[in-house]
Amino acid sequence: MSETSTPLKLSVIGCGYLGAVHAASMAELGHEVVGIEVDVAKAESLAAGRVPFFEPGFEELLRRSLDSGRLSFSSDMAAARGAAVHFVCVGTPQRRGEYAADLTYVEAATASLLDVLGPGELVVGKSTVPVGTAARLAEQVAARVPEAALAWNPEFLREGFAVQDTLHPDRLVYGVADAADAPVDAEKVLDGVYARIVADGTPKVVTDYATAEMVKTAANSFLATKISFINAMAELCEATGADVKQLADAIGHDDRIGRKFLNAGLGFGGGCLPKDIRAFMARAGELGADQALTFLREVDNINMRRRIRMVELARQVCDDSLLGKRIAVLGAAFKPDSDDIRDSPALNVAAQLQLQGANVRVTDPAAVPNVRRHWAQLDCVDTPEEAAEGADAVLLLTEWRQYKELDPATFGKVVRTRRVLDGRNALDRESWEAAGWTYRALGRRNV
Ligand code: UGA
Repeated sequence: MSETSTPLKLSVIGCGYLGAVHAASMAELGHEVVGIEVDVAKAESLAAGRVPFFEPGFEELLRRSLDSGRLSFSSDMAAARGAAVHFVCVGTPQRRGEYAADLTYVEAATASLLDVLGPGELVVGKSTVPVGTAARLAEQVAARVPEAALAWNPEFLREGFAVQDTLHPDRLVYGVADAADAPVDAEKVLDGVYARIVADGTPKVVTDYATAEMVKTAANSFLATKISFINAMAELCEATGADVKQLADAIGHDDRIGRKFLNAGLGFGGGCLPKDIRAFMARAGELGADQALTFLREVDNINMRRRIRMVELARQVCDDSLLGKRIAVLGAAFKPDSDDIRDSPALNVAAQLQLQGANVRVTDPAAVPNVRRHWAQLDCVDTPEEAAEGADAVLLLTEWRQYKELDPATFGKVVRTRRVLDGRNALDRESWEAAGWTYRALGRRNV
């Protein structure tokens, strides 16, 4: 275990996905960390070393950090008293019925933190917020505790790689107040927190609040745009008989373009990309700069069209009618190595198929308990074989390794008709066709 030269006392407010991983990772770096979580059951579960979500490698990290005695959890904000740095890691979901972000949790966490904040301490926002939020919160901090300060330090972790991304990020971004007016040297404090990461030579950008806030939303908007770009190409490939996978490979060889995030298919979902591009558009509108982001509306439209197209494709292969057809859906999480079903394209398609009269069975290696809890109307089973029993078509909607490794010959024995729709362009088409399956995918030529 590597220790930092000067261990600090830290608090992490909000122990959802981001906060829980951040808290345990900071303890791994040698700091003494208290995670504050208002949901008592969640705080107790984390304190007992039980992870309330699926994230490869996280349980080991959590247990190690708890065993070291450096990590604890509490539901009482008073436990954050005396920490040198307070990380705000609460969620900023999409507001119901609107594009804008809901800042209720950020406001509530900050208000309650201000009751315990002491002079010389630093509040560090990590939540994804609309540009302008940090400046507003900094004023609240200054009004209550003039000798404390605020910095914005966005987080870029991906679900499924959260531990790796937190301990070995590809960049650090610090949004800080003007050094001249600041009562705390935020850059120096954050360098102390991330000493090991800084020593690894991780690139660091020190900037103002607005830029730091925008780095996060700009990055997610770029990723969403890249995915929708290749999905728009998939639409054209379908119209022309071209092949989007080969197209992506070919343009991806140009390192100015790059092959990553050019996987065409069902498109993006999850708790970040969809809501972040919408909140970004909403904020641009408030700032009178909506024209700058109108292209993101098209990015969103292209993305949502993929789901409809997948349903159409399923209808087509099922002899133009979904009524009473048995459909196996492999994958429910918004992406592999996650049990997160927020805005999951796979579940969206499964629900549409069911509403249109198909008899749908969904399976997923990790997300089944979440589907059962939140989508009780969907029939959920534990294995792909159960899902595919007597199926008229099998849809691969989340590209878990387990599904990519299915043996098409053996798997073919359980279905009624060997039809597979590859919603993620992830299967080895040739081996499925060789085993007698009719293979269809978005943006791919039919054979
Ligand atoms: C995303 C960003 O990648 C992180 O950098 C960021 O920190 C995070 O949001 C966040 O804001 O917290 P995440 O939501 O975990 O991370 O998922 P991604 O790996 O970005 O995938 C998003 C969606 O895009 C998934 O549904 C995935 O299936 C889809 N996708 C991804 C594609 O359809 N094609 C691709 O080529 C890549």
